Amino acid sequence: MPLVKMSEIISFAEKNNCAAGAFSVGNMEMIIGAVKAAEEMDTPIILQIAEKRMKQSPLDLMGPMMVSAAKNAAVPVAVHLDHGLTMDCIKKSLEYGFTSVMLDGSLLPFEDNIALTKEVKAQADKYGATVEAELGVVGGNEGDSAKHEILCTDPDAAKIFCEETKIDCLAVAIGNAHGNYPVLPELRFDVLESIYKTVETPLVLHGGTGITAEMFRKAISLGIRKINIATASFDALANAAKEYTQTADKPDYFTLSPKMAEAVYNNVKKHIEIFRNK
Ligand code: 13P
Repeated sequence: MPLVKMSEIISFAEKNNCAAGAFSVGNMEMIIGAVKAAEEMDTPIILQIAEKRMKQSPLDLMGPMMVSAAKNAAVPVAVHLDHGLTMDCIKKSLEYGFTSVMLDGSLLPFEDNIALTKEVKAQADKYGATVEAELGVVGGNEGDSAKHEILCTDPDAAKIFCEETKIDCLAVAIGNAHGNYPVLPELRFDVLESIYKTVETPLVLHGGTGITAEMFRKAISLGIRKINIATASFDALANAAKEYTQTADKPDYFTLSPKMAEAVYNNVKKHIEIFRNK
């Protein structure tokens, strides 16, 4: 099964009235766990990495591993740059074979976000790659080092943005935030519904960790076609490592590595089950 464009996986989700899971990875074990879950569930997935995470997980190492895992997977897998911060990273990701890129211009003034997104689209078009952009402000700090107040996406602005930039999918802000929620968030489904009615572009939900299955299903019914999960997988891996090292007499890497992959596999599988919406 080939490495596929992210737009193909999103079209599949649209046809099947479900959402594609986009799972963030930071090392080999996370890639192995996520792909194994997708294969076992016979469901396409998106493997992604945010530019900010490349301090710990360099693109030069992660890029080839992610692309190779996708090429060898038994189900369609897209490889996506999540929250790109620089054109340099966008270009390098495309050169490594990523089939989708996002440059997060959500903190820029509207017109500047449009201009930058058009530049990204022109680059991605050279490779036939998919483009995601964000409008409104998602809480938390996946994109850069600062924490941000949530600012819901304006449906009319979203329509203009999508028409002008011709992006393939739009990340919306509806009360969602990156990282662990201190309390269950109150997602603004009224805002999502209004965006869904106004905009034809498929919609993306960031900040998936901690959202309930019921809320995911409601979001899917209102046009969400890609859901990002990062923190839950990183936490699952870290907790598995902690449990193993605290209980093993002589901890060794060769036992630890599959345990980390398994923890990610379990988390990805759990989310795929919900996102398939069956
Ligand atoms: P979480 O870390 O909250 O799962 O968010 C993931 C995300 O949206 C990555 O862009």
